[in-house]
Amino acid sequence: MNFYVMTLFPEMVEQGMQTSIMGRAMKKGLLSLQAVNIRDYTEDKHHKVDDYPYGGGAGMLMQAQPVFRCYEEIIRRVKEGVSDGRDGAEAEPARPRVVYLTPQGERFCQPMARELAKEEHLVFLCGHYEGIDERVLEEIVTDYISIGDYVLTGGELAAMVVMDAVARLAPGVLHNEESADFETFHNDLLEYPQYSRPEVWHGKPVPPVLLSGDHRRVQAWRVEQSKSRTQARRPDLYHRYCQKQFFIQFMIKKGKIQHMDMIESLRRGRGEIVQATEDGVVVRDGEAKVYMLAAFQESKAGEIIQWLGEVEDGWQYVLHQECLLGPLEQRLLSSGKLPYPGFLARKCIMPVYLTVYTQGNARHIRKDLEFQSLGMEFLEEVLGHYHLAGGTYIEERLRSGNLYGAFADGCLAGFAGIHQEGSLGMLEVYKNYRRQGIGQALEAYLINLHLSMGYTPYGMVGVENHASLEMQKKMGLCISRGQAYWVTLGESHNA
Ligand code: ADE
Repeated sequence: MNFYVMTLFPEMVEQGMQTSIMGRAMKKGLLSLQAVNIRDYTEDKHHKVDDYPYGGGAGMLMQAQPVFRCYEEIIRRVKEGVSDGRDGAEAEPARPRVVYLTPQGERFCQPMARELAKEEHLVFLCGHYEGIDERVLEEIVTDYISIGDYVLTGGELAAMVVMDAVARLAPGVLHNEESADFETFHNDLLEYPQYSRPEVWHGKPVPPVLLSGDHRRVQAWRVEQSKSRTQARRPDLYHRYCQKQFFIQFMIKKGKIQHMDMIESLRRGRGEIVQATEDGVVVRDGEAKVYMLAAFQESKAGEIIQWLGEVEDGWQYVLHQECLLGPLEQRLLSSGKLPYPGFLARKCIMPVYLTVYTQGNARHIRKDLEFQSLGMEFLEEVLGHYHLAGGTYIEERLRSGNLYGAFADGCLAGFAGIHQEGSLGMLEVYKNYRRQGIGQALEAYLINLHLSMGYTPYGMVGVENHASLEMQKKMGLCISRGQAYWVTLGESHNA
């Protein structure tokens, strides 16, 4: 992950980021930070970067010219640092996201941190004085972020807050013992209270349940503590948590297996409810760029599609009822995202069944195979064997440690993984190893992995993939009665 900060105070940013975990990650090469001084790019002979606002008013404004040239320099550095790594040719990178820190931005939160952590390059623009000329903001800024409803003297501290929250989510930055999986803001609840030695301190004993050794009781106690603490300290978060729980129960009633992707997305704290009524629910997973939609009233399908807001490039949609397909096509057509009517049905829809492991008990794992998360050194090999998802998607899944290999006598015999939105998939067993139960073993391994994280394992399988459906049935997974529809306009990743 590479951070670029456009600032008038580069030393402040560099010094602030060089200590502790961030410093360690930079030394290890997991992160890089370039703080670029906007003043170095002014064309003013006195090195001025600010001027009076037209129309009068208090204070000075940062001018467009030095900010824009500084931005151009950063784009040059991004391009210079990016090559596709295969034949030495330069690959054209997508324009990096540029975050302007401002009290007028969207309030920063953990899902935003997770979304930003997906980017390879992130540019931060720190304002000073009374702000920045609007015209350059219009040209370069992609995200406006505030860290809270108060006004700082500049954006540097805010940029450091955002970088810290984003960087710790990058693979390898935290050690296992510092894991970001279960922590404050996981699933909208604050973290439960924690205790370490001694057993009694200042006459206060550690809550006895924590010494009981009963893992289930400890878990239950922690959840209760999280709830009561959140209710007391953050009623706003608690309200959101209760709303989520309500709609999870509602969707379970409407068809637990059919809606398991939405249910799990909410349970795991990934997805956010965009809107929910008894007519339907729309869940947005910003990190995976997936919208999941359910319509419980066919006549309201058109209205539910309107909940999506602006149609952005690169998003996928999982529609849980067929009645949503027509209105989505209309919506995409009117936003200019489809070349002609009928294109959606012909090219972009993949009908799937949901498969869910509802039993809760871990599967037996064969002892003669070894399983491990595959590193980037397996990229070529995996791409050579798997064609149902695009190369950049597979590369990202490998980089983030979400593809697992089964090794027989030290040789890779097959792999499977976890999709961005959380479903199990990407299963492939190499030709010479087929019909030996290796697919089942991989599936069992991933099921156990998800069970150990407290998740309900699920997958989405193409309705014509009879072999996979048969295998999943044999392993005790439930298959949804109805189909769901994956809609992908660009590169597909569901399989
Ligand atoms: N710049 C000044 N105040 C800020 C805030 N609250 N959040 C983000 N950037 C800022």
